[in-house]
Amino acid sequence: MFAFKVFFLKIYMFIFKCITFMLPFKWPRIFEGSGSSLELCRHIAAQGHKKVLLVSDAMLVKLGLLDGMKAELAKHGVTLTIYDGVMPDPTIAQIEAGVSVLKANGCEAVLAVGGGSSIDAAKVIAARGKTNKPIAKMAGLFKVYFSGTLPLYAVPTTAGTGSEVTIAAVVSDPKLQSKLPIIDLKLMPVAAALDGQLMIGLPANITAATGMDALTHAVEAFISHNALQRTDKLAIQATQLIMANLVTAVNDGSNLAARQAMSKASNLAGMAFTQAGVGYVHAIAHNFGALYHTPHGLANAIVMPYVLDFSKSKCSRRLAELAKACNIGPTNGFDAELADAFIERIREMQRQFNIPQKLDALQRKDIPQIAAAALNEARFTYAVPRYLDREGCESLIRQMLVS
Ligand SMILES: NC(=O)c1ccc[n+]([C@@H]2O[C@H](COP(=O)([O-])OP(=O)(O)OC[C@H]3O[C@@H](n4cnc5c(N)ncnc54)[C@H](O)[C@@H]3O)[C@@H](O)[C@H]2O)c1
Ligand SMILES: [Fe+2]
Repeated sequence: MFAFKVFFLKIYMFIFKCITFMLPFKWPRIFEGSGSSLELCRHIAAQGHKKVLLVSDAMLVKLGLLDGMKAELAKHGVTLTIYDGVMPDPTIAQIEAGVSVLKANGCEAVLAVGGGSSIDAAKVIAARGKTNKPIAKMAGLFKVYFSGTLPLYAVPTTAGTGSEVTIAAVVSDPKLQSKLPIIDLKLMPVAAALDGQLMIGLPANITAATGMDALTHAVEAFISHNALQRTDKLAIQATQLIMANLVTAVNDGSNLAARQAMSKASNLAGMAFTQAGVGYVHAIAHNFGALYHTPHGLANAIVMPYVLDFSKSKCSRRLAELAKACNIGPTNGFDAELADAFIERIREMQRQFNIPQKLDALQRKDIPQIAAAALNEARFTYAVPRYLDREGCESLIRQMLVS
């Protein structure tokens, strides 16, 4: 029965891959380097936007991270309204509050400045600026397409989600204890700035967790059956940049070159997974986030080695390619050896970053619910190399119990 399901899923995924290949992605214009966020502000002004809603979180306002952009936009005649009510894993209520501010001030474009939470919230605020459709009804594939969104600009201040270059927004529904993925071509920002300077003050633990999120995007996109030649290139380049720079960015947050490289890596990994998709690491991590509020990157970092260990019999060649590209493992090693060396490097990074191997909050009684929700999320969109059945998924999650 399970073999039949897998056969059916493989055919479905092949059709899905052909459709993804033909989707008309409109990638944002990217400004890069120190000070590029100001360049983006000048670009926004040049588009003729007079009233812009800046979506962010209160912490970034307090840190003064928005000051330069505020001044630059004002200098160029743009009236800015700030909505800073976004919190990690933004909820429907936080987004609706932002929509009210947008409408009350007649804003005609949205600028997101922050981590994935602020960018995702801004995406949905920009969409709600064009339609009265309830957010819960936007969840799923292409539910925003015909109403469209207000023009959206993004400045990531973490290097992890790649949300500035993806067609996804993840919204939390605390009532249902679930995360709703909204996926639509219209959620793609029109332009974004990768400005490592804004990441200098990002605390080491968040740098580590968000960097591991970017690594998960690259690895899951690379081992996906939906991978294409162009997503492979992006994923390899992202993995190389992360392996070469994440440790430095964590240990020496003021190293601008490492920050800029991580920002680039996150962006490349975002493009890779936008087309190739993610896999079980994300499916399980999203549900840890929904149930226990585990930060997204941290959840991915914990789950990744377990899923790769389970998957490696079906993707050792792909993991070996990543290992070779990053000079990990023995030269001329066999695929299986190199795949193991790659997974071991991820565990080594976990140890260096003080990321636990088990999830403290995980409760045995919740495992059936988490497994069911993860398999449901993965079922029709994640082209994983090796499929899990319900029992397999539960037993994989059980390995993450502290006791
Ligand atoms: N849209 C997508 O494609 C996509 C992909 C992956 C994850 N996500 C979603 O993104 C969210 C996670 O985003 P995230 O990991 O970037 O974290 P985040 O946006 O939740 O931010 C985490 C914390 O870092 C702080 N912070 C951010 N930038 C800072 C800076 N430069 N200096 C100091 N503090 C700073 C924030 O104030 C916040 O407290 C989750 O909701 C996740 O589901 C979306
Ligand atoms: Fe992610």
